[in-house]
Amino acid sequence: MDQQLTDTPVLPRVEKSVLARPVHVSGYAREGRDFYATPAWVTEALLHHVKLRGPVWEPCCGTGAMSRVIEAAGYQVHSTDITDRGYGQAGVDFLACRTVPAGCQSIITNPPYGETGVHVGQSRSPSAMLRFLRHSLALMESVQGQLALLVRLQWIPGQRAAGIMTAAPFSAVIMLKDRIQWFDMGEETNRAQHHHAWVVFDHQHPKDQPPALLFA
Ligand SMILES: C[S@@+](CC[C@H](N)C(=O)[O-])C[C@H]1O[C@@H](n2cnc3c(N)ncnc32)[C@H](O)[C@@H]1O
Repeated sequence: MDQQLTDTPVLPRVEKSVLARPVHVSGYAREGRDFYATPAWVTEALLHHVKLRGPVWEPCCGTGAMSRVIEAAGYQVHSTDITDRGYGQAGVDFLACRTVPAGCQSIITNPPYGETGVHVGQSRSPSAMLRFLRHSLALMESVQGQLALLVRLQWIPGQRAAGIMTAAPFSAVIMLKDRIQWFDMGEETNRAQHHHAWVVFDHQHPKDQPPALLFA
């Protein structure tokens, strides 16, 4: 692994032996419930508006619904997930990763929203999303990369989320005009109850340029 994080208040210092590993393998793969696959049009909407600079890391790949679309658009994708869902590299706890897989210049995912009960040791509150955001931003800072997270619309103006985003290299928000009909994985995931948006960050985004508001 040729990259390591710069020191930030977000991530603690870790031993060199840990930094040498491309990703943190948690050693367990359990069936989590916070899983719903994203329909292709949602990822296509992001790729329509955002040009990525290089290989992509999908760190919560599930069954590969996003990864496949990103690959079909011509990008190399490194897919990992904490749970073994038969796609990508299983057993990788993103929140424990201290480095970016070699060459990856961006992170794209639909993070676990932390509401349906997930993994041991992982918060079930909206702060799980904030932690996920902070962690992703810090990892991408180490490569001056890009980050796109699919979130619920009402999450964006929340006090803490807005605070983090304002301080971050926030480059765009892409509002999805249609509500997402999640692929049915049980757990009542198939309800098109919420509007969603992509929040996009780019550590190379000019500091004096406000984020773009786009619709898809
Ligand atoms: C909402 S699903 C999204 C799956 C895929 N990105 C998609 O859009 O189809 C969230 C995924 O995050 C995974 N996950 C949850 N916590 C994780 C963690 N700490 N590290 C890596 N993956 C995690 C779950 O196993 C699940 O597959």
